[in-house]
Amino acid sequence: MAMFKTIEWKQEYIRILDQTKLPFETVYVDLFSIEDVFEAIQQLKIRGAPAIGVVAAYGLFLAFQKVKHISVDDFFNLLNEKINYLDSARPTAVNLKWALQSIKTALGNSSEFDFGATKDRLLEIAVKIHEDDRRRCDRISDFGQEILKNDSRILTHCNTGALATGGTGTALGVVLKAHELRKQIKVFATESRPVLQGARLTVWELENSKIPVTLLCDSAAGWLIRQQKVDLVILGADRIAADGSTANKIGTYNLAVLASYHKIPFYVAAPFSTVDLSIQNGQDIPIEHRAADEIRNIFNNFLITVPDVDCWNPAFDVTPPELISGIITEVGVIYPPYELNLKNHKTNPINDIN
Ligand code: MRU
Repeated sequence: MAMFKTIEWKQEYIRILDQTKLPFETVYVDLFSIEDVFEAIQQLKIRGAPAIGVVAAYGLFLAFQKVKHISVDDFFNLLNEKINYLDSARPTAVNLKWALQSIKTALGNSSEFDFGATKDRLLEIAVKIHEDDRRRCDRISDFGQEILKNDSRILTHCNTGALATGGTGTALGVVLKAHELRKQIKVFATESRPVLQGARLTVWELENSKIPVTLLCDSAAGWLIRQQKVDLVILGADRIAADGSTANKIGTYNLAVLASYHKIPFYVAAPFSTVDLSIQNGQDIPIEHRAADEIRNIFNNFLITVPDVDCWNPAFDVTPPELISGIITEVGVIYPPYELNLKNHKTNPINDIN
């Protein structure tokens, strides 16, 4: 059980743990408006695909919280406008779109429109999406045990724990569960440049849970694997296309190529809210490019290069399905052919796990 709350609904506002300040300061910030939510997502105060879906769901409610009266047409027009606005905060993680579209679908287009009841329902669905993610994480953690031996040495990338989800995490959830089950696992975490989610967040989460972790520079992974110090790679996803192509934190593809070359398994752990069957393959996944200053500076204030150097800063890359050994989901571990097996297992968006 995490000793911190990543996202908390406080009746009239959302409280999040500001991930830009970790691990040095544990600062909670309160989000009172949809604009606050948009900014928190863009600035990575809250990040990780499932977590931004959850916070966006509450954010959509905030957009209507203070509205007293509205006609049915105006409501649905405004709803669409706010969904498009929040969805534009970060383009790659499909959980954001999934959460917002799930709300829209659940609200329907009732002819007997009662704004008060619709508003209550909006909040109810946001809470449901949050709880739903908790359950999905638990199931992923359980199913993930089938690929972990008692003494597995795991390499992970970025942050996929309680900070990145509404529950205990995806890939890191599997690790936490293994530790709970007293498996003698060993974890290697990459720094995950440029904004160091591995060094700052994964290490912090693992230390909080008393799980031994070894940190390495992203560029050291090849040499570590070459020396046979890693049994398998497990990491998360921001979007999985119908053919299994997986977008995840930049550097994931490097690890997949390394794992394939050295013949060690490479697993992705993600809920079905990350699976986007409307996208056939990796080429169609939109990749977020972030500001050059993330590379030029450490922590926004310490310049590590010449001030105006040109930078290329894609936040994600795409790993092709042939490099992925399996996808650990809330309905089990899915193996190739992904095209067929993902489609067969795609669950209903909301409340599909009882
Ligand atoms: O830019 P971030 O920190 O939001 O990127 C996060 C990742 O790439 C995670 O691996 C992914 O969202 C899965 S989180 C369970």
